Amino acid sequence: MQAAAPPVALPIAPCSALTSILPGVKKRILLLAGGQSGEHEVSLMSAKSVLAALPADKFEVTPLVISRQGRWLPPSETSRALEAGRAEHGGESLLKQAAGVQGFDLVFPLLHGPNGEDGTVQGLLTLAGIPFVGSGVLGSAVSMDKVMTKLVLASAGIPQVEYRLATRRQWRHSPDTVRDMAAELGLPLFVKPANLGSSVGISKVRSEMELDAALDLAFSLDRRVILEAMTPGRPRELEVGILGNDAPVASPVGELRFHADFYDYQTKYTAGEASMHIPAELPLELAEQVRAYALAAFAALDCAGLARIDFFYVEGRNGAAGQLFLNEVNTMPGFTTTSMYPKLWEAAGWSYEALVTRLVELGLEER
Ligand SMILES: Nc1ncnc2c1ncn2[C@@H]1O[C@H](COP(=O)(O)OP(=O)(O)O)[C@@H](O)[C@H]1O
Ligand SMILES: [Mg+2]
Repeated sequence: MQAAAPPVALPIAPCSALTSILPGVKKRILLLAGGQSGEHEVSLMSAKSVLAALPADKFEVTPLVISRQGRWLPPSETSRALEAGRAEHGGESLLKQAAGVQGFDLVFPLLHGPNGEDGTVQGLLTLAGIPFVGSGVLGSAVSMDKVMTKLVLASAGIPQVEYRLATRRQWRHSPDTVRDMAAELGLPLFVKPANLGSSVGISKVRSEMELDAALDLAFSLDRRVILEAMTPGRPRELEVGILGNDAPVASPVGELRFHADFYDYQTKYTAGEASMHIPAELPLELAEQVRAYALAAFAALDCAGLARIDFFYVEGRNGAAGQLFLNEVNTMPGFTTTSMYPKLWEAAGWSYEALVTRLVELGLEER
């Protein structure tokens, strides 16, 4: 049984963006996109949407694409990469280019996964003394790491599935201790690298025979791996958007539906494989609980600006209560005009343009 969340009625945010950005004084924004993760292409698509949406009378936006090798591309190569939707080569190393960020009022690090969403770029921007959109070093780093996230959320009383942490050293030197962890959790279970995203390296282990291969794969990608009990029954996958700094608000709850056995890489990135339902068809009380947990997680993890918080919900059978589990927190969720995060806010009355403008304002806000 999960702990009951306080029965709060959460306000849906108003639709107008605030106006701390003065007319006539354009803010210079550096929009970082691409990066080294499996979500390189998604990031470039999001960046194109953001570039088109930021109102030209308020902002002067300079895009800068980071290649898959982590090198920062000059303007001409950035334009070509945005056109092509990907960047493999070229560019300067990150630290050589970092000083360049100082000519801007704000950076929008629209980067996903390792070396982008995990506190590294946020650290660089903090050292450079330049405001940026989204969570700082702490919130980004902790939210990117599945184990650290679980530790923090557990201390905040937020329900999660059972799990074990295993290290590469354990897998190499005493593999049976890792197999014992799996036995304790039971089958099926999920094996996940602690620090990736996009379902890369994640396996659903259905039989004992599949366990070693799943662990080999996950440990080839990360030093730390989590073994996670499957939810008791196929879960519904619910997502909530959070917007704000120290007084954040929660969007309506959305649901992802798909036919695949789980939301794997292919299902995520093949058009037509999954659909979004906003608002999710849920009893009001349950939707409020999901939103309350999402806000509590955002605060516990010291997130800022935005986050998309993902849950599993297993319906109760024969009149029994259903069970809710927080799955993960994304501090820089997919941000194309058709991505879940902007769609959740659209359902609350926020246009894509108003949402992006609000994020810039939150990035500039004194905290
Ligand atoms: N414990 C679990 N029980 C049931 N399904 C799970 C579990 N863990 C992961 N999944 C499935 O795998 C997908 C990807 O897992 P997730 O932890 O969200 O990885 P990522 O960070 O790569 O998005 C989920 O959306 C869900 O479909
Ligand atoms: Mg996920």
